Amino acid sequence: MEIVIVADRAAVGEVAAGAIADLVGAKPGALVGVATGSSPLPVYTSLARRVAAGELDVSQVRVCQLDEYVGLPPGHPESYRAVIEREVLTPLGLTTESFLGPDGAAADLPAACAAYEQALRDAGGVDLQLLGIGSDGHIGFNEPCSSFSSRTRVKTLTQRTRLDNARFFGSLDEVPWHVVTQGIATISDARHLVLVATGESKAEAIALAVEGPLAAVTPASALQLHPHATVIVDESAASRLK
Ligand code: F6R
Repeated sequence: MEIVIVADRAAVGEVAAGAIADLVGAKPGALVGVATGSSPLPVYTSLARRVAAGELDVSQVRVCQLDEYVGLPPGHPESYRAVIEREVLTPLGLTTESFLGPDGAAADLPAACAAYEQALRDAGGVDLQLLGIGSDGHIGFNEPCSSFSSRTRVKTLTQRTRLDNARFFGSLDEVPWHVVTQGIATISDARHLVLVATGESKAEAIALAVEGPLAAVTPASALQLHPHATVIVDESAASRLK
């Protein structure tokens, strides 16, 4: 595992965007897995700046989604599909034709999860998966004690994650209880994992993920098993590393 410690949030975004730009330079039609939440936003800002400056051509890039809430009405601004359209596709000039995501509104959710697994395989697999980390060590929405061999499925959010995510909604009551998420094994199929984290609130999760025991109670510790994992953190998020 490669650990990159930089000064601040903007620098985390630059380094992670640089990894994506290098990939796209070598493979213009790469399948890039994106995440939602606050942590990846500086990455998307840096990518959009590179595209606007003519430094990066993403016209052939394909984008796929890590997870999605269950039960939000279609078009809800906090559905992860809407967030990715707003934060990633539109600023990069991509359309939903280049986008793959799980259907959190499907009547048959297990079938939708299996279909998403198949769609990722049919697309040739994910070249680079960008990840954030929950304060409890989750990746995607694989909450503590998720199996390292898990595939895309329905999960129940912990109250801690619902509280962490309430800032995106009007109130805690509006945060869904259920999600569909790529499993830890699905995420680990990506050829390169890039996890970004900033701030003191992520320091304990980062220390456990990077230096703690391999343990289902810290889902992000699965990155220790991956042949190509990069963790990019600012000094605050790195503050509990030995
Ligand atoms: C979102 C996701 C989650 C977040 C995590 C951290 O697609 O996969 O694992 O990355 O909850 O969220 P932030 O970055 O908002 O602290």
